Amino acid sequence: MRIGVLTGGGDAPGLNPAIAGVVERASRNGHEIIGLKRGWEALSIRDNDNHVVKLGPEIIREYSRLGGSKLQCSRTNPVAKDNDRTDLVKENMKKLRLDAVIAIGGEDTLGAAAVLSERGIPVVGIPKTIDRDLAGTEYTLGYDTALNVICDSAERVAHTAESHQTVFLLEVMGRHAGWLALRGGEASFADVILIPEYEFTMDQLTSVLHERLRESEHLGFEQRYKMVVVSEGAHIKGEDAVKRDSQVDEFGHYSLGGIGNYLKGLLQHEFKLTRYTALAYLQRGAPPSQKDRQIGRRFGHNAVEMIKNGDTGNMVALKRSRLTKTPLAEVRKSPSLVDVDKNYDTEWLNVKIEWTDIPGQD
Ligand code: F6P
Repeated sequence: MRIGVLTGGGDAPGLNPAIAGVVERASRNGHEIIGLKRGWEALSIRDNDNHVVKLGPEIIREYSRLGGSKLQCSRTNPVAKDNDRTDLVKENMKKLRLDAVIAIGGEDTLGAAAVLSERGIPVVGIPKTIDRDLAGTEYTLGYDTALNVICDSAERVAHTAESHQTVFLLEVMGRHAGWLALRGGEASFADVILIPEYEFTMDQLTSVLHERLRESEHLGFEQRYKMVVVSEGAHIKGEDAVKRDSQVDEFGHYSLGGIGNYLKGLLQHEFKLTRYTALAYLQRGAPPSQKDRQIGRRFGHNAVEMIKNGDTGNMVALKRSRLTKTPLAEVRKSPSLVDVDKNYDTEWLNVKIEWTDIPGQD
């Protein structure tokens, strides 16, 4: 068989190990792998010679340890209402003699894969997004690496916050879901965690910070800094999430970012020293963690097996720590969000810690 592989949406650590896993399994089984560059763009344009590359086992060592995507990514939507290129995708697959495509992506790339699959194109999906908000799977590639970057950065920021007794806002990614802020903030012992799923008020935020400062008054100067981990999608009650600019991608999404800076402006009247840092793309560009390499590799193997077994129209998924499959149509359902009742303390604006919780299996 000849199988195409592509990576779409925002890059995430684990994409290259997943491609390496696909190539590893395919070469063992005698299949050919064709790398399709820039996501769905490779199959959605006519002149695509520069978008196509043959991938053999010689790429495995290099791809296995690299962040980003060696196949590049794009936010191309081949099934956009005003620019539907389903027929061109079919034509290109024929031209390239592809029997099936493995699409590695999040809600948009795999949402498009679901539509193409309903229209008769054989596709298998591999889930990725550092936000970990895809329906139908407990794990998405990139989440673990991004969490590690958040923990590491929170520690660095804590040194400077401690030295200056600052209220420090650390902004992390997470467009709809607060998993990165919640679990990154939990592991960093953040004083406040703000997530998109819970609309807070400035009064509440200010009084929680005052209370936390009061608690540490008698502990010495070293303790008089406070750390707020805030998700880019978090917003004040009645307000919209803060947008980076007015651009919209092919899937209709704005880029978010700037809530940390906005809150800094509002808080600095109340707290003498308030500082802010946004981690932004530093969370995405890191080398994949052990977990993202291992799961990426296994997702890749599994995707090839699924094609061999005629399971196109499905996505590789992790459920209850087991590798399984789920229909691609699942990813078009609502994203997997933080369950506020179960996981979030709305009084203290922080993670709710129950000893029955096993983070990562939320
Ligand atoms: O969906 C993954 C993600 O990293 C989000 O957390 C973030 O909002 C978005 O991608 C940023 O995308 P872009 O690369 O278009 O700025």
